[in-house]
Amino acid sequence: MVFDYIDGGADDEVTLRRNAARFRDYELLWDVLADVSAIDTSANVLGQAVSAPIIIAPTASSRLFNPRAGERAVARAAHAHGLLYSASTLASTSIEEIARETPGPKLFQIYVWKDRGLVREILQRAKAAGFAGIVLTVDTPVAGNRERDPRNRFSIPPKVSLHTAAQALARPGYLFDLTTTPSIRAENFAHLAGGVGSIVDFINTQFDRSVTWRDAAWMREQWDGAFAIKGVGRPSDAAQCIDIGADAVWVSNHGGRQLDTAPATIDLLTPIADAVAGRGQIILDGGVRRGSDIAKALALGASAVAIGRPYLWGLAASGELGVRRALEILTSELERTMALLGRTRIDALGPDIIANAQDAEMRSRHIER
Ligand code: FNR
Ligand code: LAC
Repeated sequence: MVFDYIDGGADDEVTLRRNAARFRDYELLWDVLADVSAIDTSANVLGQAVSAPIIIAPTASSRLFNPRAGERAVARAAHAHGLLYSASTLASTSIEEIARETPGPKLFQIYVWKDRGLVREILQRAKAAGFAGIVLTVDTPVAGNRERDPRNRFSIPPKVSLHTAAQALARPGYLFDLTTTPSIRAENFAHLAGGVGSIVDFINTQFDRSVTWRDAAWMREQWDGAFAIKGVGRPSDAAQCIDIGADAVWVSNHGGRQLDTAPATIDLLTPIADAVAGRGQIILDGGVRRGSDIAKALALGASAVAIGRPYLWGLAASGELGVRRALEILTSELERTMALLGRTRIDALGPDIIANAQDAEMRSRHIER
């Protein structure tokens, strides 16, 4: 059931599959006889100097995937690789604890909660804990319909029932870790009177379906650091993010976990880059699985990509070591791809490395600007 929570998407999982599949349709064209003895993948993302433009995407409750290691292990691995880490609002470790674990650059993802006092308080805490930026996720007015979860009787925290017992007993190591560590909960809000119950209950009571651009602008005003808006697909919305003062537009369909049959994010990139027109950074996530995927996103206008499932698999397999290994695979693949392309710097990855950019261009015309 934990595997399915990571792996799964909404409804028929069309977007989930499409995100990764569409990267393969973009063809790479290479330069020959270029000196590629030194490859430099360093970049500046949201004002932070990073060793590669790869962001650890915010994902809820890391201790679910590794009850002992959790967010701490992911943040440490990101720092070891010189990458930007994002903590989810629904993290199972508090932002203060994460900050104590590593001095590396960190983002904090939030939603607009119904209780605006709670929003203001959490922003102050993020500031005090030294977080460099805020990521406002806007593609989740309601939770997506991930059908694998109810089929598995999955909940956060996991509950042992007749239905889940067989699965739990089949993973004695996991069960041991789960039962010998503190209960998994939304640690950032655990201090609230009465606690927050399950994470799903918390989402249902605190998610505000009436959130609008005015609220996003209000939140921008509450925070004086870097500010990104995550979950944008339409070019006119991307332009509006910049108009209300966002530093970055984060192109995402939540890894295919929200609105199913949404386009692959890579197909949305060209029209969004046109709409943003250099007025802010663009971050893209969804289906990034290879170094070549990263090169393609950067070529079509992203300043960075973010990854979710790739590091979660590493975390679930072997904690911090597993996350480090996943990051090592991706960063070395990016370096190898750049060497094969004959391009030694991130800013040298332009649309001319995409052989069939014309096809992509034609596709993007379907999307209203
Ligand atoms: C997510 N994602 C997510 N996004 C967010 O803003 N807040 C959150 O709490 C979560 N939680 C979450 C849990 C899990 C298990 C997954 C897989 C994803 C979405 C995430 O930030 C990102 O957009 C996608 O994971 C990117 O797609 P890939 O890389 O997983 O294909
Ligand atoms: C998810 C929510 C929690 O994708 O953002 O699981």
